Amino acid sequence: MPATVVVGLQWGDEGKGGVVDIYAEKADMVVRFQGGNNAGHTVMVGDQIFALHLIPSGILREKTCVIGNGVVVDPKALIEEMEGLERRGIKVRENLRVSENAHLIMPWHRALDGLQEKALGDKKLGTTLRGIGLAYSDKMARTGIRVGDMLEQGTFRAKLAAALQQKNAIIEKVYGEKPLSVDEIYDAYRGYAEIIKPMVVDGAVLINQALAAGKHVLFEGAQGALLDIDFGTYPFCTSSNPLAGAACVGAGVSPKAISDIIGVAKAYTTRVGEGPFPTECAEEQVGAMRIKGREFGTTTGRPRRIGWFDAVVVRRAVLLSGVERMAITHPDVLDDLEDIPVCVRYKCGGETVELFPNSLEKLARCQPVYEQLKGWKQDTSQARRLEDLPPNARRYLKRLEELTGAKICLIRVGPRRDQTILVS
Ligand code: GDP
Ligand code: IMO
Ligand code: MG
Repeated sequence: MPATVVVGLQWGDEGKGGVVDIYAEKADMVVRFQGGNNAGHTVMVGDQIFALHLIPSGILREKTCVIGNGVVVDPKALIEEMEGLERRGIKVRENLRVSENAHLIMPWHRALDGLQEKALGDKKLGTTLRGIGLAYSDKMARTGIRVGDMLEQGTFRAKLAAALQQKNAIIEKVYGEKPLSVDEIYDAYRGYAEIIKPMVVDGAVLINQALAAGKHVLFEGAQGALLDIDFGTYPFCTSSNPLAGAACVGAGVSPKAISDIIGVAKAYTTRVGEGPFPTECAEEQVGAMRIKGREFGTTTGRPRRIGWFDAVVVRRAVLLSGVERMAITHPDVLDDLEDIPVCVRYKCGGETVELFPNSLEKLARCQPVYEQLKGWKQDTSQARRLEDLPPNARRYLKRLEELTGAKICLIRVGPRRDQTILVS
């Protein structure tokens, strides 16, 4: 398939990095199209663990990797990530390209993310404090600064001074904090520009050329559908669209170019940060799942909230991204359970709800309806073919297919590359 989009079907951390890593083996190019370094994509190569934030997971397979125009780029974080990977022997500069149209995360975006969250107190969103929402706000308000601007000294200084005048007024007058210095930021970003410059390209042209040459391009989504700015649990969501459609605008390719959309879902559900989570378990119910599933945020280290598989959530995500094929991760985390609840629908008063509602007020009135599926009480981490899985595990997965309407194409049974079952 020449152009495959991989997206998360829940609240992020579904294991997209590991799934992209598997498909990247046969791809020529891997593109990130939205989000920023709020993402944390873990890939295990042998016994080495790599946590990628901005750089597409294909970098570990020495593929051409592109940070598309739809991504917000913190150049300091990008350089740190690049250097960290290079110290571990990964070739980054040779393979990474950054779109000149991608917007920059500036120091005031990070500062204001923190100040806003603090001011919200117990109503905070639980952001990753990376300045993501603030950078996207400036992009939409047409006051942002792009990667390409950073390379033009005169333009950059003028844009920086204009932006900082406004931002410092907010920092000082609204939050009573110390203003940021134009000179300090200018000097730091000049340094970043020198390092990043050789990698900056017209991303859309590069990607379209690859597609025209029949290359296999993988589009690596960050976050998940329920964190979508339009369809997620607003305002407890991120500030971009982690949906398949966003791959087109976030990379500069036609919707007609996309040939395959793969959704990734965990065999249960997790969420990090605030916001509604209908199938969430109490901490004492979570038991060994947190340790076995390594359920701590890759970016912030926060313990993830854990709950049962919610078909109402995934059905909505399948609809939004037009998912036909689904990769299921982490069934191995459920290995020890006697019975496994799966939420099949919600009840809202007398009404049956099959698709996740847009209104949080309505959601608050919904009750999950569970079906109890029999556990398999057997280690699945060694399974490499569908037939290796115990019958109850296969029944569980079959039921997820029936409930979501998406066909399972791949199953992960652990974080390592070899812990993969290719179904179709
Ligand atoms: P992403 O953001 O969607 O790429 O997911 P993360 O990397 O944030 O979180 C997934 C976590 O689960 C990582 O620690 C992975 O190494 C691990 N992981 C991925 N797939 C599996 C799986 O099938 N089973 C288990 N036990 N762990 C997995
Ligand atoms: P990956 O790509 C899980 C969550 C944050 C917070 C909300 C808003 O690893 O799946 P932001 O910093 O984006 O403004 O935070 O979104 N969030 C994620 N949760 N996985 C992610 O990325 C996330 N990126 C953001 O925890 O609730
Ligand atoms: Mg993650």
